Amino acid sequence: MLESNYFHYIDKSLHCDKLALEELAGTFGTPLYVTSEQSLVDNYKAFERAFETLPHFTCYSVKANFNLSVIKTLAELGCGCDVNSGGELYRSLQAGVAPEKIIFAGVGKKYEEIAYSLTAGVLMLKAESLSELRTINRIAGELGKIASVALRINPNVTAETHPYITTGDSKEKFGIDEAELTEVFSLLPQLPNLKLVALDMHIGSQIFDPEYYVAATEKLLALFNLSKTMGFAIEFLDIGGGFPVTYDPRKIATPIERFAEKLIPMLKPAGVTVIFEPGRYLVANASVLLTKILYKKRNHAGKEFFVVDAGMTELIRPALYQSHHEVQAVTSRDEKVIADIVGPICESSDFFARQREIDAADEGECLAVMSCGAYAAVMSSNYNGRLRPAEVMVNGSDVKLVRKRETLEQLVQNELL
Ligand code: LLP
Repeated sequence: MLESNYFHYIDKSLHCDKLALEELAGTFGTPLYVTSEQSLVDNYKAFERAFETLPHFTCYSVKANFNLSVIKTLAELGCGCDVNSGGELYRSLQAGVAPEKIIFAGVGKKYEEIAYSLTAGVLMLKAESLSELRTINRIAGELGKIASVALRINPNVTAETHPYITTGDSKEKFGIDEAELTEVFSLLPQLPNLKLVALDMHIGSQIFDPEYYVAATEKLLALFNLSKTMGFAIEFLDIGGGFPVTYDPRKIATPIERFAEKLIPMLKPAGVTVIFEPGRYLVANASVLLTKILYKKRNHAGKEFFVVDAGMTELIRPALYQSHHEVQAVTSRDEKVIADIVGPICESSDFFARQREIDAADEGECLAVMSCGAYAAVMSSNYNGRLRPAEVMVNGSDVKLVRKRETLEQLVQNELL
C-alpha cells in the first residue's frame, strides 16, 4: 500500500488531500485521473532544495504529464519546460510558460517543428545528429535567426532499468556518439546560424543508482573540457531526467538527495548553469487513476477477477513495461482476496495487477490505481473506441475539473464520410 500526505485513508476512506475519492467518483464519474496540486508543489520544492547549492535550472519534462494545469502549476513555481514535439511546445506556451524557459528535444524533429520553436524563441534546441545541426542551421538562416543549440551526447552508459526506457547506450537511437564529437565541434564553425550553448544527455528513466549519473557526467565533463579547448564557451550542462520514484513500497526509490550529493561536487567546478529535466519525479505520485469495479468473477480454477472500467487505454505501463502499480480499494476492508485486476479492453495484456492481494471490495465500489501522474494520461488512447477520462485537480478541500471527459462526438469529429 502506498500512502502519502496527499493520498491517505481517513476512517477507511481513501482521500486526496481533504476530499474522499468515492465522492469525486460520484461527482465526476470514472475512470478519473485525480491529481493533488500540493503534491506537485512539494515535489518541485524537494527537487529544488536538493540542488539548491548548485546554479541550476529545472525544466519539467512535459512528456510525463502534459495537462495544461499541471504544466501551469509547475511553471508558476519558476520551473521551465523540456518539450519533445511541436505539440508539447504548443501546450507549454498555452499553459503560460515563457518561451525562453523552454528547451526543445527530440530525435526526429520535423522542419516545421524546428521553425516553430525558433519563431517562438525557445532557450535552445537539443540536436541529436550532424544532419539535424545542418537542418537547424539552414532553417535559422531562412528565418534570419541565430539558433541556440545543445548537443545531445550519447555517453554510452547502460543504466539498469527497463530496456524500453534506457537511452544513454550506444545501441539506442539517442544522441550523438561521444566518439563523433570532435568532428562535430570542428564542423560547427561552418554552420554560422548556430550558437552552441549546451552539452546535454539523458541516460534513461527510473534509475535507482546514482553511479550511472556519475559515470555519464564524467564523460559529459570531459567533453565540456574538450569544447573549451576547441574555443567554445558553453553556458549550460544538461544532465537530463530519469530520477526515480516509488511505485512499489517494497522498492523504495533512492532519495533525490543521494543524487544531489554525488552530482553537485562534480558539476559545481564547471562554473556553468546545470539543467535538469525531471518528469516522473515531479508528477508520478501526484495522481491516481480512479476506476470502478464493474464485475467480479471466479473461474473454475478458483481464480478471481475484478473487472474494472479503466484499462490499458488509460494506463499502458503494466502491459508495456511490466511495471508495478499499487491498486487500492477506496473504501478499505479488513477482508482480503487475491485477484487479477483487469480492464475492459480486448487484450490479454489489459491488466493493472495479477494475483494481487486486495481488499475484498464489492461491485460498484472504486479502486485507485496509484502513481498515475506520469506516463498514464499522456499515453492514453482511443483504442476500442474508448473515451479519454476526465481529469481533476484537488487542493485541500477544493477540486477543479482540468480536463473534460471526451464525448462520442469527439471520437469521430475528424473523420469524413
Ligand atoms: N529528458 C529526456 C530527453 C527524456 O527523454 C525523458 C524521458 C525525460 C527527460 C524525463 O524522464 P523522467 O524524469 O520522467 O524519467 N513511458 C516511460 C518513460 C519514457 C521516458 C522517456 N523519456 C514510462 O512510463 O516509464
